[in-house]
Amino acid sequence: MKKRSTFLSYGKQSVDEDDIQVVVETLRSPYLTQGPKVEEFEQAVAEYVGANYAVAFTNGTAALHGACFAAGIGFEDEVITTPITFAATSNAVLYCGGTPVFADIDAGTYNLDPTEVEKRITAKTKAIIPVDFTGQPVNLDAMLKIAEEHNLIVIEDGAHSLGATYKGRKVGSQAHMTMFSFHPVKPITTGEGGIITTNCEVFYEKLKLFRSHGISKTPYSVEQGDWYYEMTELGFNYRMTDLQSALGLSQMDKIEGFLTRRREIAALYTKKLVGFPGIILPEQLAGTDSGWHLYMIQLDSGIIGKSRKQIFEEMRALNIGVHVHYIPVYWHPYYQELGYEKGLCPKAENWYEQALTLPIYPGMTDEDVLYVVDAIKQVCDRDSIA
Ligand SMILES: Cc1ncc(COP(=O)(O)O)c(C=O)c1O
Repeated sequence: MKKRSTFLSYGKQSVDEDDIQVVVETLRSPYLTQGPKVEEFEQAVAEYVGANYAVAFTNGTAALHGACFAAGIGFEDEVITTPITFAATSNAVLYCGGTPVFADIDAGTYNLDPTEVEKRITAKTKAIIPVDFTGQPVNLDAMLKIAEEHNLIVIEDGAHSLGATYKGRKVGSQAHMTMFSFHPVKPITTGEGGIITTNCEVFYEKLKLFRSHGISKTPYSVEQGDWYYEMTELGFNYRMTDLQSALGLSQMDKIEGFLTRRREIAALYTKKLVGFPGIILPEQLAGTDSGWHLYMIQLDSGIIGKSRKQIFEEMRALNIGVHVHYIPVYWHPYYQELGYEKGLCPKAENWYEQALTLPIYPGMTDEDVLYVVDAIKQVCDRDSIA
């Protein structure tokens, strides 16, 4: 097979002239940060997902940190999450002094398994952070039921799932708090950026305080004067700029088109790869409509006769930017140093050994997709192995 002339990355932003124009206009406006665009963007996201409130942050990691703060995570608290995620998910718990507890995944959907979550609950458990891995919503009803029974807070890590639906409703209004990321490979982008959506006013107020140094203009002091403000919490400067927000607003106008294209690409991959020996396709949880941030397959090396590493390298040699999401978080040296042991979540570890990410982003053409399909079939074709 002829090598592609250009590298096909696994994910990529779609930024057009409209997007560029609104950022330029904002650069010419009086506010580069702390201006009106931030609130407009927050309102647009809150309305889109059907939540009462949204608080924008510099990035998704900062937003998760804010959510853990708002949830009151501190020393002695345990938070249950999945090992098949980006390290930022559990790092946010560590930032607050809490202890991440990893529960195993469901082998079909690759998402956190509610029965495994229940097994990890102790008297110290304070919250659950399920991840909508690849854009597929987690079994949220089950998570919320567990949370209700044990008085826990559910922070949904929807870094991948803006626009995905769970039981007919957009992700972002059902968990106690939901985080979305706007990194360039995500469903929409603001360069870097993140947001928390919530229906809870108390969380909303805490999130706003936290992202701006823990400083508030209230209570207003007549005695002191108009300059007066108070710092009541140890917050951070995690504010999103107006430039990012303007880009986010423009991207929100296009999100449905982005999602439609991602779903078309996923359907094409599924149609062309279903039944191919050694290639396992992702299962979809009933009642969910994934946003397809990632299209992940599993490779059965026993059937294919090649290791995942060999397949990865052969695909890369064709200029296809296959990837692997994710190394189980507790395998990282930092977590190993903290005392997490390998073998903790066998299904997640088995998943990692077999996983491969195929390119998917709105700008991909059908020809791009079919090239990837032909390549993976050729690379994994047992009969063609000499
Ligand atoms: C599942 C998950 N959670 C959290 C994050 C952190 O988001 P950000 O990169 O916006 O800080 C990411 C980003 O890749 C992610 O994939």
